Amino acid sequence: MSSIKGRSNLIYGGYEKAPNRAFLKAMGLNDNDISKPLVGIAIAWDEAGPCNIHLLGLSSVAKEGVREAGATPRVFTAPVVIDGIAMGSEGMKYSLVSREVIADTIELVTNAHGYDGFVAFGGCDKTGPGMMMAMARLNIPSIYMYGGSALPGVFRGKPITVQDVYEAVGSYSAGKLTAEDLRIMEDNAIPGPGTCAGLYTANTMGIISEALGVALPGSASPPAVDSARVRYAKETSKAIGKLVENGIKPRDMMTFEAFENAISMLMATGGSTNAVLHLLAIAKEANVKLTLDDFDRISKRTPTIAYLKPEGEYAMYDLHRVGGAPLILKKLLEAGLLNGDVLTVTGKTMERNLKEFTLPQISH
Ligand code: FES
Repeated sequence: MSSIKGRSNLIYGGYEKAPNRAFLKAMGLNDNDISKPLVGIAIAWDEAGPCNIHLLGLSSVAKEGVREAGATPRVFTAPVVIDGIAMGSEGMKYSLVSREVIADTIELVTNAHGYDGFVAFGGCDKTGPGMMMAMARLNIPSIYMYGGSALPGVFRGKPITVQDVYEAVGSYSAGKLTAEDLRIMEDNAIPGPGTCAGLYTANTMGIISEALGVALPGSASPPAVDSARVRYAKETSKAIGKLVENGIKPRDMMTFEAFENAISMLMATGGSTNAVLHLLAIAKEANVKLTLDDFDRISKRTPTIAYLKPEGEYAMYDLHRVGGAPLILKKLLEAGLLNGDVLTVTGKTMERNLKEFTLPQISH
């Protein structure tokens, strides 16, 4: 990976930079560590809510992956606004702003310290878009991984998500639900770490990261608590090595055709309309001219083939059980609605990735 050592060499190479190296040595790094490319591990993390809470744990796995790729990992954090909490209050004014702050934070830490590349882990609504914006803006070797959704909760034997709690508040106000049932739903709707379980913005942008080609195939849909998350965190971090070896940068992947694929994914799944805002912002950072007309054009030719909450019945976990984002992408490719020639973060084309991806065997 020495070919990308250029950026960090400017900060840490040569006798004049002995003081800079002294700062790294104060944290336990040795000359060998410093001689390798320095790779940032950006995690959108705080204790504001469950959406990203597990990413701190995954960052240690990511460090192992970066080391196995022959680089030296440096973890840093970006803030998270939990939309589900901020919504309906003054707090929501800070939500979209947080996307820009996240992109700026990655630019700031990565450029200030001359990191040669970065691995980014997002979750709640604005974190993934902010991270993908930073990838497009900095255009240095980088890869994204979505942290996964929460499992559905259970209420009286039926699966529920936080959406049911919002609706339960209405039912309680109308005298159609008891205070006891409202409390039971509140206690059980989100059984652990991860993002909102339906196809809201976070999950939409998660599967879009695969369609854009900036995340490993299949990495978006495993639930946050699934052990597959640990494997994907390791593989994602190791992949930074291949990106460097092959000289692949985000804008090599984030082409106009890749954005068209992302929009096809959005339309095929009936994902969040917030994805329009986010894709336009990511495209702008990537210097790709994307307009609302592109969304309109692609929406006219793309059928909705998923039936996920909030409009449908199923949660992200259900999509994962049948094959996750690769299942949707395969269907789109077969229908001639996906460009299979675009380059992805694996160093292979989208079509090749999809051919190699094994869908789970489902017994009905
Ligand atoms: Fe974070 Fe819904 S509040 S994904």
